[in-house]
Amino acid sequence: MLNPTNEQIAAIDATASGAPVKLKAYAGATKTSTLTMIAERLADRRGKYLAFNKDIVADARRKFPANVSTQTWHSLAYSATHRAITARLNLAKEPPHHLASRYGLSAIKVPTVIGKSVELSPFQLGRMVADGSARFCRSAQAAPEAWHIPVDEKIEQAAAEELRSMLLPYVVRHWDESADPRGRTC
Ligand SMILES: Nc1ncnc2c1ncn2[C@@H]1O[C@H](COP(=O)(O)OP(=O)(O)OP(=O)(O)O)[C@@H](O)[C@H]1O
Ligand SMILES: [Mg+2]
Repeated sequence: MLNPTNEQIAAIDATASGAPVKLKAYAGATKTSTLTMIAERLADRRGKYLAFNKDIVADARRKFPANVSTQTWHSLAYSATHRAITARLNLAKEPPHHLASRYGLSAIKVPTVIGKSVELSPFQLGRMVADGSARFCRSAQAAPEAWHIPVDEKIEQAAAEELRSMLLPYVVRHWDESADPRGRTC
């Protein structure tokens, strides 16, 4: 048994008070030990420990008392997602130029910030749609928005805005297809 430091005692007391607590500490600065002390103090409560990878989870499983269940974030997300969707994880990824062709997106010319123009290929447009959809997934928004679509900074601002507005319906479609249990690509 470790003798808790004053900081650890403060962390344990704050958590035991029932208030939401955020502890931020550098590598090796006793985060896990402090959490196990908290779990022991709150022995009549259930806890969940979430970590990024399996090694950390396996390590935590050895350290935490039985009232704490341990899982990776991905495993939590996986178990909360409909089987029809997780079953699609092994499907082939649709290449950006296939996506563009399926959506009827052809090459377009857009002005750059240095007064020239550049052609965006179907591959690039398909990638912008897929990336826009992926950025939406990592955002807090309820639906895809134009700013989720990444546009190369060399493209002139008004043209970039127009491009985003033009591509937004395709991002919405891409997301709808991604969330469709009967979808055929990943
Ligand atoms: N009160 C204490 N007294 C003495 N040693 C302690 C105390 N609390 C923790 N330690 C020790 O400090 C070391 C680092 O602690 P711990 O592994 O909990 O840190 P961590 O912040 O989780 O590290 P990491 O960033 O690697 O996950 C461990 O060897 C642990 O046993
Ligand atoms: Mg740790």
